[in-house]
Amino acid sequence: MANKSGSLETRILVYAPIGKDAQLASKILDGAGMACTACRDASELSAELDKGVGVVLTVEEALAAGALAPLAQFVSRQPTWSDIPIVVLTHTGADSAGLDAAVERLGNLTLLERPVRTTTLISTIRSSLRARTRQYQVREADRRKDEFLASLGHELRNPLAPIRTSMAILKRMYPAAYGVTQVREVVERQVTHLTRLVDDLLDVARITSGKVELQCERIALSAVISHAVEICMPLLESSHHKIDVSYPPEPILLHADPVRLVQSLANILANAAKYTLKPDRIFFKARIENGNVIFSIKDPGIGLNQDSLLRIFDMFTQSDSTPGRVMGGLGIGLSLAKRFTEMHGGTIHAKSAGLCQGSEFVLTLPIVVDALSTDSASRHSIENEIFRARNRQVLVVDDNRDGADMLHRLFEADGFTVTTAYDGHEAVETVKRIQPDIVVMDIGMPGMDGYEAVRLIRLQPGGADILMIALTGWGQESTRQLAAEAGFDHHLVKPVDFDALKNFLENALG
Ligand SMILES: Nc1ncnc2c1ncn2[C@@H]1O[C@H](COP(=O)(O)OP(=O)(O)OP(=O)(O)O)[C@@H](O)[C@H]1O
Ligand SMILES: [Mg+2]
Repeated sequence: MANKSGSLETRILVYAPIGKDAQLASKILDGAGMACTACRDASELSAELDKGVGVVLTVEEALAAGALAPLAQFVSRQPTWSDIPIVVLTHTGADSAGLDAAVERLGNLTLLERPVRTTTLISTIRSSLRARTRQYQVREADRRKDEFLASLGHELRNPLAPIRTSMAILKRMYPAAYGVTQVREVVERQVTHLTRLVDDLLDVARITSGKVELQCERIALSAVISHAVEICMPLLESSHHKIDVSYPPEPILLHADPVRLVQSLANILANAAKYTLKPDRIFFKARIENGNVIFSIKDPGIGLNQDSLLRIFDMFTQSDSTPGRVMGGLGIGLSLAKRFTEMHGGTIHAKSAGLCQGSEFVLTLPIVVDALSTDSASRHSIENEIFRARNRQVLVVDDNRDGADMLHRLFEADGFTVTTAYDGHEAVETVKRIQPDIVVMDIGMPGMDGYEAVRLIRLQPGGADILMIALTGWGQESTRQLAAEAGFDHHLVKPVDFDALKNFLENALG
């Protein structure tokens, strides 16, 4: 039957394969201006549910005849905003076993005993539809919130970039001036913290819109652990905790997204430090079992009660008994850790004997590649080499003048010959004139953006040999791909860590 309103989401799916109930109910509801779709069998019901539904209307006999399973499946798969209203016309008198099961499994269920008065049926379906409309409004608000988070994160990134580069310049100008160093360190710490919060917000937005893709590679277990510990070191030191790290002595290679894995472990480790209020010992262990790597982070801190153990992995959730908000977090870290772990095919769970009894977080991942071969990734030398890229010509392009000027000064302080351009046109002209070795260019610029500028630069004589690095506030895969297609060799997300950029150039230029 055609849907009068044209919207699948507000239609009534009627499933009553035996007798005349379906026909009668549809006639009554259609007459009252509510669009109905009648389903002939359980598989049609299942398919129609997936297309969109406002209310399900069925009868007690149909539940036993195959409707319960698809409905229960649909109910259990619902997103958090959805609570599909289901109306069941029942027999008079005693409850059946089928009804008991339906009450248990179908959630938002209304039972109407037959014979049902027409007005009762119409008003029940109408109020169910109103409730469903509210759910759609919640979904819409949720979507807007995600969009808002994404653009907020993006906007916050831009001012962070020049602050961070200014700090790096101050560090070079006054490497050891008492007073300046202290102030600089405070700003640096806070900017790092802010950057992390912004990154978390962007991750939430990407995850909820399904835009996170893992970038898996071979990585040494030892490198993952030491990086996670390194990230948390300032926090561990300022709270005077000791950390006991242990992992198998033999080299172990994992196949994982190093950024996401380290991020997950670092959050759990940071939590262990944050929620252990007095200086104490935290244990960070990894072991290999049946091809899985099992990480355990155990603290003797404030612990978690049963209720919190179930909820803390939800987005923006903090345990009532912990001073989470006082600690400056958003309640995002664990939900990100859980999503990233699941994307790797793993599991994460928390254990605690109760409040004040410490906690243990266990991450199990089926990502071990090789537990015996040579640990090449951990062999990377981190000694400071003489930076061979000196005397290279760099062109910095950014319409944010503060950002461009700061990067200009940083490159200059490191011995590069630097030129700056403030938009795409100027960049193309400057490349013709100075033939740089490296171009570091913003993508979003008024007039000619970075994509177009790089395309034109690549077409110029000698343009193919320039090392082109894109610089943007957006770190998602689609931007990376667009940047690569346009002709960039590499893509960096703002605020750029200048030391990391330098390291990258060092490797790229040889
Ligand atoms: N080791 C722990 N001991 C006790 N409570 C913990 C521990 N780890 C997490 N929690 C509880 O779980 C909540 C959620 O942790 P989660 O890491 O998601 O958020 P957060 O630390 O508050 O903020 P952030 O988003 O910065 O990580 C915390 O607020 C805290 O209440
Ligand atoms: Mg946390």
